[in-house]
Amino acid sequence: MTELRAKIDEAIKTIRKHSSIEPQAAIILGTGLNGLAEQLEADARISYDDIPHFPRTTVDAHAGELVLGHLAGKPVVALAGRFHYYEGYSFQEVTFPVRIAQALGVSTLIVSNAAGGLNPEFRAGDLMLITDHINFMGDNPLIGPNDDSLGPRFPDMSEPYSWELIELAEAKALELGVKLRRGVYLGCPGPCLETRAEYRFMRFLGADTVGMSTVPEVIVAVHAGLKVLGFSAVTDECFPEALQPVDIDRIIATANSIEPIMSRLVYACIESMNLDR
Ligand code: HPA
Repeated sequence: MTELRAKIDEAIKTIRKHSSIEPQAAIILGTGLNGLAEQLEADARISYDDIPHFPRTTVDAHAGELVLGHLAGKPVVALAGRFHYYEGYSFQEVTFPVRIAQALGVSTLIVSNAAGGLNPEFRAGDLMLITDHINFMGDNPLIGPNDDSLGPRFPDMSEPYSWELIELAEAKALELGVKLRRGVYLGCPGPCLETRAEYRFMRFLGADTVGMSTVPEVIVAVHAGLKVLGFSAVTDECFPEALQPVDIDRIIATANSIEPIMSRLVYACIESMNLDR
């Protein structure tokens, strides 16, 4: 047994003492999805600090919790609180919650992020469905010995974001009258924002949004055989020829303004999802 497998098994043993719910979907409550926490009918809320091998939260980051319950009538596990690479966590630590979701038996992972818009047609406040990503983070969570019971050594990445779920999200957006962009997310390590030259380069590479999360979690989800649905909340415009200094308060305000729409759309998607494995 690999060390990772042993850690997962121990964490699951603790989680199982709190609830016997068998979740079908996992939701990382990133930027834009925190509102879903209120709609969750929780069966158990477990502090990350009480789960063995969950990364210890940094002093300034507020402790997260794993919630087992129901959303839109479906059994789900919600991960409220996320670990970022720029906080000093390794990629293995950042993605441990996804391994837990896998071990709990989910078929689907839903992720979101706050991102800068690189596509000149995008505006701050837009919502984008992620169709693909570029790993620009300089690391990979699968480096090291591979545990074949968790996934293959060389996972295929031809469809990291499920086309079936992309089509479902687009249909639901149309039904709800939500304007939904589509595009490629580029993940970089942060924590500094990017230079004009970097934004120009990223756009040239084919990216539509840029942010500091999501990529490691999605790589592990693909390795784990999960279907992924991902969204970017476009919080600022990263156009090299018209770049404004970053205003973190404005980014947070824009993210908050997108939240109700993103939450409504994700709720509708979960309601209609086929979550069989
Ligand atoms: N880069 C630029 N703008 C952003 C980012 C980022 O990583 N995240 C949110 N807005």
